[in-house]
Amino acid sequence: MFKNRLYKTLNIASNEDLKLFSKKSKIPTKKLKYYNEQGLLPYHEDLQSILQTTGFTEFELKIKLGILDDSILDLLNAHSKEISILMNNNLPQIESNSHHTFAFETQFGQMYQGDCVSLMNTMKNGSVDLIFADPPFNLDKEYESGMNDKVSEEQYLRWTEQWVLKCVDLLKEGGSLFIWNLPKWNTYIANILNKRLTFKHWIATDIKYRLPIKNKLYPSHYSLLYYTKGEKANTFNEQRLPLEICRKCGGDIRDYGGYKDKLNPLGINLTDVWYDIPPVRHSKFKTRESNELSMKLLERVISLSSNVGDLVFDPFGGSGTTYAVSEILKRKWIGIELGSVDLIKNRLDDLGYQQSYIEEIQGNKNVLFTEQMRKIRIKKGHWLPETLKNKDASN
Ligand SMILES: C[S@@+](CC[C@H](N)C(=O)[O-])C[C@H]1O[C@@H](n2cnc3c(N)ncnc32)[C@H](O)[C@@H]1O
Repeated sequence: MFKNRLYKTLNIASNEDLKLFSKKSKIPTKKLKYYNEQGLLPYHEDLQSILQTTGFTEFELKIKLGILDDSILDLLNAHSKEISILMNNNLPQIESNSHHTFAFETQFGQMYQGDCVSLMNTMKNGSVDLIFADPPFNLDKEYESGMNDKVSEEQYLRWTEQWVLKCVDLLKEGGSLFIWNLPKWNTYIANILNKRLTFKHWIATDIKYRLPIKNKLYPSHYSLLYYTKGEKANTFNEQRLPLEICRKCGGDIRDYGGYKDKLNPLGINLTDVWYDIPPVRHSKFKTRESNELSMKLLERVISLSSNVGDLVFDPFGGSGTTYAVSEILKRKWIGIELGSVDLIKNRLDDLGYQQSYIEEIQGNKNVLFTEQMRKIRIKKGHWLPETLKNKDASN
């Protein structure tokens, strides 16, 4: 979380300051910039040179940069009383001038317009069963709300910490929290959550979302963090998927050998790599600006971690996917969006076709073969659970 701390620590406020410090310490400006922007502890002789130039001890520098290794945490722990007195026993309060207003309600939900942290400050701690959050990724995207999606990494991470901590407060004991983001940001978010909740999974959702980049692996997954408050989730409704088969010929992709008849008729266990979440292309509600997620993703998360009547909260409305799926699945929900909520209202006023889509998704899970798969397998003469049994019976 301590990006850009190095410059602050070294009193570097301008290019001139940077050049001057580079000259004194003999560390190239490019390298100082790298340490600063990445929030890293300088390496090897660079570290020694900074200590010499500034007169800081390594301990002092690490504290200033927020690099709290276990040995430092042990020391802070041993002196917590003195430190607390030194700080007047106060935790800093975060000032906020943001606001929110009530927008509309539906049979199951309440929608607000404005800033999510402002709304979360008014909600009861420990009141939400399931939180799903899909924040902006700081990628300079245009949002209808006109929000700035390209702030400094430091600003983005400070803001992230604010809303993530509020989510932790709002979650009920036994409740579940899911956060959808780029893997890079989710490493920072995991660092916050690991100190407060129980890590369940880093779910990799296979989506080719960018062009291949030179000297980098081709980024092809979004990360979905899954944590619970307390060791065990109050709700974990098993989700099973149909067997993967060849799309063209309907045949097996893997060799199940003698295990075919041992496969669970309700389908294959859901893993932490999700290959079957489609991009939203044809939705009638798709607008480029809203970065709408697939209803299939939300159907899975909500069915997995909540029951009818539970309360779902999503702090980043967008086009309202979480709210539409919650409404269809009869979960209570609370929503908020910084920009206009008109799109969300329209979407919730007309759930018909979305309801059919959810029914289709639900019809195609928790079975080993869907109806469509069965048809092609019968046509092409591939095995089905009943044909295995018939074979046994005739042997
Ligand atoms: C990535 S989109 C969410 C898309 C949503 N999951 C969907 O499927 O439609 C993030 C949304 O959060 C909104 N947003 C950004 N900052 C916010 C804030 N502080 N409070 C509430 N909403 C915010 C943006 O305007 C944007 O619509």
